Amino acid sequence: MTPIVADALVLFGATGDLAKKKLFPALYHLETRGRLNLPVIGVGRSPWDHSDLRDYARAAVKAANDSVDEDALNRLISRLHMVSGEYADESTFAALAAALKGSNNPVFYLAIPPELFSVIVKGLEKSKLNEGARIVVEKPFGRDLASAQGLNDILHEVFAESSIFRIDHYLGKESVENLLVFRFANAFLEPIWNRNYVDNVQITMAENFGVEGRGTFYDSVGAIRDVVQNHLLQVIAYLAMEPPVGPGADHLRDEKVKVLTAMKALDCDHLVRGQYIGYRDESGVKPESKVETFAAMRFDIDSWRWSGVPFYVRAGKAMATTSLEAVVELKEPPSMLFTGADSCPPTHNVIRFRMGQHNDGVTMTVHAKEPGDATVTHAVDLSVDFASTLGFRREAYERLLDDAIIGDARRFARADSVDEAWRIVDPALDDPGELYFYERGSWGPPEADRILGGDEWHPPIS
Ligand code: BG6
Repeated sequence: MTPIVADALVLFGATGDLAKKKLFPALYHLETRGRLNLPVIGVGRSPWDHSDLRDYARAAVKAANDSVDEDALNRLISRLHMVSGEYADESTFAALAAALKGSNNPVFYLAIPPELFSVIVKGLEKSKLNEGARIVVEKPFGRDLASAQGLNDILHEVFAESSIFRIDHYLGKESVENLLVFRFANAFLEPIWNRNYVDNVQITMAENFGVEGRGTFYDSVGAIRDVVQNHLLQVIAYLAMEPPVGPGADHLRDEKVKVLTAMKALDCDHLVRGQYIGYRDESGVKPESKVETFAAMRFDIDSWRWSGVPFYVRAGKAMATTSLEAVVELKEPPSMLFTGADSCPPTHNVIRFRMGQHNDGVTMTVHAKEPGDATVTHAVDLSVDFASTLGFRREAYERLLDDAIIGDARRFARADSVDEAWRIVDPALDDPGELYFYERGSWGPPEADRILGGDEWHPPIS
C-alpha cells in the first residue's frame, strides 16, 4: 500500500535544542528543494507566540548555514505556527486540534525526553488526533530492554507499528546506507562476505570532543546507551545482514532484525569501559561518576555466515580524532610464492568503509608488486571519495524528515530491532564492571586491546 503523504507537521519540543540545531535547518533545506508543502506547528511549554517561534527558527537556520536563500527561508517561516501549553493540559490539545483543522494526516514529531511520551500520546488519543496520523520519536528509545518495551506499549496503545517512526539518525546518513548499496550492488563481494574469508570486522566511532554542555544527559546514559545500542548495532546489522528479498521497508527491516536476533548478548569479559580524565569536572557530571565515555567490545553473531567472526566495536569521546569507520579484515592468503629470502608475504586485505562527515568513501587495501627483481608485495589503496566522485549529499535529518512526511519507513528502526539491540547490550548496563581512565586525545585506555584476542585495531584513516 502506498503510504499517504502527511498534510501537517507538528513538532513537540519546537523550542528545544534539537529543533534549533537539526530540525529547523533540515526543514529549511526541504523548503529550498520544494519538498515542504505543509504547515509546521510547533508545540512547547514555553509561553511563546507565532513570532517567537518564527524568530527562533530564523536564527536557527541562519546559524546553521553560511549563506541563506531568503525567499526559501521566508516561505518556511510563513508555515510556522505556535501552540504553547502544558502537555498534560487538555487545552493544549484543543488548541493543537484547532491549529490542525483541515488536516487529516498529520505527522507528530516528539523531540522531547521519553518521560513525556506517555502524556503526549494520551493527549493525542483523547483529542482523536492520532487518527490517520504518524508519530516520529527521537532517541533515546528507553534505557534498557524493559523501559524500551514499556515505551513501545505506550505507543502501541494509540498508534499501529506501521505509523511509528523511531529515529536513529545514522540510518539517515548516506555513508551508512552506502553499506547496503556497496554490498548488494557489487557482485564481487558476496562470495567472500562470510566466515570463510572474513577474519574480523571492526567499527570505530571516535569523537575528538567531550560531552560539550550535554553533561547532565550524558552522565545518565554513557557511551553504550548513547551510541552502541542504536547507531553502531544498526551499522553491524547493515554489514552482516542477508540480502533483503525486496525493496520494501519491511524486507530490509526483517533482515536486520534477523542479524540482531542471532547476536549473542554482550559478554562483559569482552567489554572494556573507559572515562576520559576531566570528564568528572564537566558541568552536569557527578564528581564520582562511573559512566563510560569510551567502550570497546566484541560481539558475536551465531549464524551460518558469521559464526566465529568477531565484530569489534569501539566508541569514545575525547579521542585522538573524529572518525566513523567499519573495517572488514579478510584472512591472509597462502604465501608460497613469497617465501624467498627477499620476499615479503602479503598480509590481509582490508575493506574500509569511511562513514564520517568528512572524507567519506571506501578504501580497499590490496597488494601489488613492488618494482624490482624480487617478488615483493606492497600494500596499496584503491579508494573512492564520495564527495569528489558523487557530489553533494544531504544531511541525515533532512532525509529523515522527508521520509517521515512521505511515510517511507525504511530508514527508521522497528520495535523488534530496538528490543533486540537492548537485549544485546543489557548485560553491560546492569553490571558493567571496571572503568579505566584515559587521556583526552588518546585512543582510550590501553586495556581496550584486551578484547582483541591477538587481532589489532586498525587506526582510522579518515
Ligand atoms: C548522538 C549522540 O546520537 O550521535 C552523540 O547522542 C553523538 O553523543 C552523535 O555525538 C554523533 O552523531 P554524528 O552524526 O556526529 O556521528
